[in-house]
Amino acid sequence: MQPVPARSDGYVARVGVLGGGQLARMLAIAGAPLGVRVVTLTPDPEASHDVTHTIAGEYDDEHALRELASLSNVVTYEFENIPPEAVERLEGRVLLRPPPAALTTAADRWAEKELFGRLGIPIARYTRVAAPTDFDRALTEVGLPCVVKTRRMGYDGKGQRVCRTEEELRASWDALGGVDLLCEQWVPFERELSIVAVRSIAGDVRCYAPGENVHEAGILRSTIAPAPDLSEDLHDHASLNVRRILAELDYVGVLALEMFQHGDTLLANEIAPRVHNTGHWTIEGAETSQFENHLRAVLGWPLGSTRHHGHAAMVNIIGTTPPLERLLAIAGLRVHMYGKQPRPGRKLGHVNIVAASGADAREHVAALRTLVEG
Ligand SMILES: Nc1ncnc2c1ncn2[C@@H]1O[C@H](COP(=O)(O)OP(=O)(O)O)[C@@H](O)[C@H]1O
Ligand SMILES: [Mg+2]
Repeated sequence: MQPVPARSDGYVARVGVLGGGQLARMLAIAGAPLGVRVVTLTPDPEASHDVTHTIAGEYDDEHALRELASLSNVVTYEFENIPPEAVERLEGRVLLRPPPAALTTAADRWAEKELFGRLGIPIARYTRVAAPTDFDRALTEVGLPCVVKTRRMGYDGKGQRVCRTEEELRASWDALGGVDLLCEQWVPFERELSIVAVRSIAGDVRCYAPGENVHEAGILRSTIAPAPDLSEDLHDHASLNVRRILAELDYVGVLALEMFQHGDTLLANEIAPRVHNTGHWTIEGAETSQFENHLRAVLGWPLGSTRHHGHAAMVNIIGTTPPLERLLAIAGLRVHMYGKQPRPGRKLGHVNIVAASGADAREHVAALRTLVEG
């Protein structure tokens, strides 16, 4: 493997990140011991500015893009809803990893479903709604209850509505702003799972243990990894599917695949072409964190082991700052705050703890949620 040549500024390498939130922040923290400096371009530098070299600017600001390209050995992304023009303007000026096509696929729920379909990965029934008249087809092809999602720009459950009646379904057109939609079957899943994996420039793939995730109102609340009592069969399906996706996209870096467990099947929900909230447990719960492995991958370096230590529990801190002294009194608990101003529904930090068993991890999640949710 060819490392990206180092620069003569004392850093081993600089990694540019489009976006300046908590993911850029945690990439920067993981990079520090390796001599990797993270450079962000962001219109909102709140969560990462204290640990990164920050270029404050809009994503389409030519001057800012030029500076990012000139300072970075390679540029990566912190979220998928970057304007495609910004990425296009970087092409040819600097290495972009993962490949921009992965970003455009993941930013478009329709393209994402087509990808799953092409690879034979099971998904819930769905159809496109490009005009209100398409709801007729949605009613026959998808049925009720269903979930209507904006084709683009959704995250943390934003831009989607669960519809139980025809009236709710038809009303979702205006409620979601009259934009291109996807209508999908509402899945009565037993639980949600995700698998985070990393692929190197040489095509070496390593998977982390699949995690069990709890979302409420579309926002991730907790992850337990490895997912307790996951059959070997479903474990193999999850890793096989994520490997197929990585190969198909000729991917470099970390990617997450979100799934619904429904009986004996795993239905793919969506992919995230980046480090992911359901992989935050890897900071203390795995030999190499997702953040370090993403940096290693995009820099063309050898990947680190993804083996997990014990049974990790991760609980998100959302909306309000929790009683820090009570959290710090818990033996083994690690606190990760992002330096963001509290606001309802906003991810402000997370806590990780590594337990001796899946059952212990569940107990930690219950106790920690009571504490952080007040
Ligand atoms: N088809 C569905 N059936 C049941 N629940 C769903 C469905 N789609 C989404 N959800 C719920 O909403 C959450 C967020 O939806 P998702 O498609 O992952 O969008 P986002 O980009 O906001 O993460 C999911 O994690 C799940 O809890
Ligand atoms: Mg999701």
